[in-house]
Amino acid sequence: MKQAVRKAVFPVGGMGTRFLPATKSMPKEMLPVVDKPLIQYAVEEAQAAGIEEFIFVTGRGKTAIEDHFDHSVELQDLLATRGRTDQVDAIRAWMPPAGQVAYTRQQEPLGLGHAVWCARHLVGDEPFAVLLADDLILADTPCLKQMMDAYATSGGNMVAVMDVPREHTKRYGVLAVGRDDGRLAEVKGLVEKPEPAAAPSTLSVIGRYILQPAVFGHLDRQERGAGDEIQLTDALARMIGTAPFHGLRFEGERFDCGDKVGFLHANMAFALAREDLRGPVASFLRQLNRRL
Ligand code: UTP
Repeated sequence: MKQAVRKAVFPVGGMGTRFLPATKSMPKEMLPVVDKPLIQYAVEEAQAAGIEEFIFVTGRGKTAIEDHFDHSVELQDLLATRGRTDQVDAIRAWMPPAGQVAYTRQQEPLGLGHAVWCARHLVGDEPFAVLLADDLILADTPCLKQMMDAYATSGGNMVAVMDVPREHTKRYGVLAVGRDDGRLAEVKGLVEKPEPAAAPSTLSVIGRYILQPAVFGHLDRQERGAGDEIQLTDALARMIGTAPFHGLRFEGERFDCGDKVGFLHANMAFALAREDLRGPVASFLRQLNRRL
């Protein structure tokens, strides 16, 4: 019987330099895709996978995220007096319940591994999920739920993976693959940001993880890796062979919303997936297409 995954960590301490000037005074994770901030998509995905506790690792200039997951009494009163109880109910529906949200600060952005390590006392000695809000996934079954279903059988550590063009391996953690049934790939090795020629495969980690608490012991070493940052991938690589470790080829389309082009793609794809927006957006895209 695998220990249930009840907690999720949302590292939101990055600087978002690829998205300046938008991210100068606004967290990258509050960028809206259509009408919803990236971080809310991630929280809703975690809720859909059965997560009960939401741990945010924030940094300076990120208070908008805390405000977003808190009641706005004035707004809710205003909506109520205008008879917009549907909107009030909608806000209540996605807000994590009181006492199930925790915030800790990563005082310096030393890397993703360091951000996850900052959550160690809040996670404690149990498996947990990590979701990077800037990796946005459009899927019938939310990506983390797909992973939870696979984890129920495999246990251990699990990362979401997808094949990327070989020339892009330098942007990802890349797997050396052992046994592979086409959906679940056994992780035999893991390299952070390899040059295309040196990459062991093109199967790359994107921002969804289910991890065993032993990872904190490896992150304790605070070793710097690629880009002089404390890399989560390096700690995961040290766990290979100590517990089952799999990459799940999830079903769905992933958008890198930390990148301007990926963000624009996400807005179009998410708008087209919405019944209320599909018609006008599709007709605008057709107009644009004639101009190209
Ligand atoms: P990125 O590699 O996208 O870095 O981080 P970044 O700083 O956010 O953005 P750029 O590259 O400067 O534009 C991947 C994820 O790890 C988190 C980020 O918030 C993002 O979700 N992160 C990264 C931290 O929480 N702390 C860090 O020190 C670094």
